[in-house]
Amino acid sequence: MDSTVTASQIARDVDRIGPWFHNLDLNGVQTAPAHFLGDYPADKFARFAHLLPADLTGKTVLDIGCNAGFYSFEMRRRGAARVLGIDADDRYIEQARFAARTLGVADVEFRNLSIYDVGALGERFDLVIFMGVLYHLRHPMLALDLIREHVAGDLMLFQTLTRGPDSVAEVAEDYDFAEDAHFQAPDHPRMAFIERKWAHDWTNWWVPNRAGVEAMLRATGFAILRGPADEVYLCRTAAVPFAEYGPAVVYPARPPAHPDEEPAR
Ligand SMILES: C[S@@+](CC[C@H](N)C(=O)[O-])C[C@H]1O[C@@H](n2cnc3c(N)ncnc32)[C@H](O)[C@@H]1O
Repeated sequence: MDSTVTASQIARDVDRIGPWFHNLDLNGVQTAPAHFLGDYPADKFARFAHLLPADLTGKTVLDIGCNAGFYSFEMRRRGAARVLGIDADDRYIEQARFAARTLGVADVEFRNLSIYDVGALGERFDLVIFMGVLYHLRHPMLALDLIREHVAGDLMLFQTLTRGPDSVAEVAEDYDFAEDAHFQAPDHPRMAFIERKWAHDWTNWWVPNRAGVEAMLRATGFAILRGPADEVYLCRTAAVPFAEYGPAVVYPARPPAHPDEEPAR
C-alpha cells in the first residue's frame, strides 16, 4: 500500500466499513479492539497454531468463511504460494480486501462465494481452512461433503462450536433396532438443533458435542490427525465411508460446462 497513507486515514476507512468481527492490526490500527472475546482471533490462534505446519512454502490454501481474512493472512505469513478466502457476506469481503491492500499482500485473493458453491472453483487446495462456519449452516453435512468432494486436496483445519462432555463414546459397527441406551448417553455422537436463537444469534443452527464433530468428520472422509485444541482439529482427506454404495453428495454444485447447459440435477 502507498506508504504515505496515514494511521488516521486507515482508522477512518476501518470505521467506514465496520463493524469488524476480526481484530486485525492494520499498520498499528486495530479493527475490533473491543471484541467480546478479547484480541480475537489472535488469542485463539495462539492456542491451536501448533496443530499446523509452521512452513507452508509453495502450498495452496482455501479459507472458507474467511471473514476479514485473519487466517488467510496468517497462512500467507507461513509462506503459502496462493491463498484464496471466500465468504458469503459482501461486507466481510470488502474488509478482507481492504486489509490485504493495507498490509501490502494484494496477492491474497478474496471472493464472495458460498460454501455450497465451492464446486464452482474447480480446484483442490493443499490446505482448506473451515473454521467457525459449520454451526452457522442449515446443512452442515452437505458442506463437509462438498468440501471433501470438490476442494480438499490434503489437509483441513476445522473448528466448530461444541457443547457437552469431553468424553467420546465408542461407536459400534451396528445397533439393534430396539436398542436405545446409546441414544441416551451424553457422549454418543449428537448435534443439538437450534430452532430459534443461540447466544442471541439466529444464524446459529446446530451445536454438536465432541463425539458428534469427530463422527461427522470421519463420515465425510476426513481422518483426524491432531486435536482438538480449543475445538480445532487438523484433518487429512481419507476414504469416504460407504462410497462404494454410491455418491453421498447430491447437489448441483458443478458449473454448467456451456452457458446454455442446464445445471446438473
Ligand atoms: C463466526 S465467523 C468465522 C470467521 C472465521 N472463519 C474465524 O474462524 O474467525 C463465520 C463466517 O462464516 C461466514 N459464512 C456464513 N455462512 C456462510 C456460507 N454459506 N458460505 C460462506 N461463508 C459463510 C460468515 O459470513 C462469517 O464470516
